[in-house]
Amino acid sequence: MNAAGTHANRVRKVVFPVAGLGTRFLPATKVVAKEMLPVLDRPLIQYAVDEAVDAGADTLVFVTNRYKHAIADYFDSAYELEETLERAGKHELLSLIQGLLPPHVRCVYVTQEQALGLGHAVLCAKPVIGDEPFGVILPDDLIVGEGGSALRQMVDLAAVEDAGVLAVEEVPREDTGKYGIVDVGGAHDSAAAIRHVVEKPQPEHAPSNLAIVGRYVLPARIFELLEGTRPGAGGEIQLTDAIDALIAESKVLACRFAGTRFDCGNKSGLVRATLHFAMQDPALAKVAREFMA
Ligand code: UTP
Repeated sequence: MNAAGTHANRVRKVVFPVAGLGTRFLPATKVVAKEMLPVLDRPLIQYAVDEAVDAGADTLVFVTNRYKHAIADYFDSAYELEETLERAGKHELLSLIQGLLPPHVRCVYVTQEQALGLGHAVLCAKPVIGDEPFGVILPDDLIVGEGGSALRQMVDLAAVEDAGVLAVEEVPREDTGKYGIVDVGGAHDSAAAIRHVVEKPQPEHAPSNLAIVGRYVLPARIFELLEGTRPGAGGEIQLTDAIDALIAESKVLACRFAGTRFDCGNKSGLVRATLHFAMQDPALAKVAREFMA
């Protein structure tokens, strides 16, 4: 049995690197963490956390910085608000704010003092992860999975294949310079062994148009490899560089997950995600249709 949560190798811990500057949403992100931007009534971080819980996680590790206190506040109890709602008999709203996380799930916060890159942010989680495989979710990639969340699909694959797994998606060739790109030797399978990864290659140098998107299942070995990784593209410690070293010594698969990704790290993705969820709600769908007509 390999369904998430029932296998001995299950992924219990998921890391959320949320210490980036979020410059594409300035000026809002001067004070509002990018991960707290809402898609309808829920912040991006809630969609990410729900996905981790769906994949079987019971420990959520947030890599934050001093500007991101709102994330911890959001998952903390809000006694005054709860008491006010209780007294007003607003029980539905009360259970909404009390039910953000299931009771068996705990949150751990670690600080990345300087934004030295995604690889460095993941390395900051090392003391909490220890020696077990773990998941990574970048909350600004909001993924609506089909037949289970994207991370659950990946965790199941990692358990069956005893491998690291990266979520990948085809992107237009001219966009390869925005992503880590995988070389799977031309394979078209939903899961394919990765030969090589390269960070932000120009289209003419890209080994494919299969881009790594914000979901990873990695072994603890990645931490040692990150410790030996020198700053790469953009002067940052790149997770992709450590993954390339991992591929040289163990199996890492590219997973073309079933689902739709919204890149909410930029404005057009956030608009698309908002419209997607609005269209699921009959009243909001009517508003959206009328507005577009
Ligand atoms: P992005 O490349 O999206 O950068 O980081 P960003 O700072 O969040 O946003 P822009 O590009 O300035 O608008 C990818 C992920 O890695 C995290 C970010 O929080 C995001 O989840 N990250 C990046 C860190 O946690 N620390 C870093 O040093 C860099």
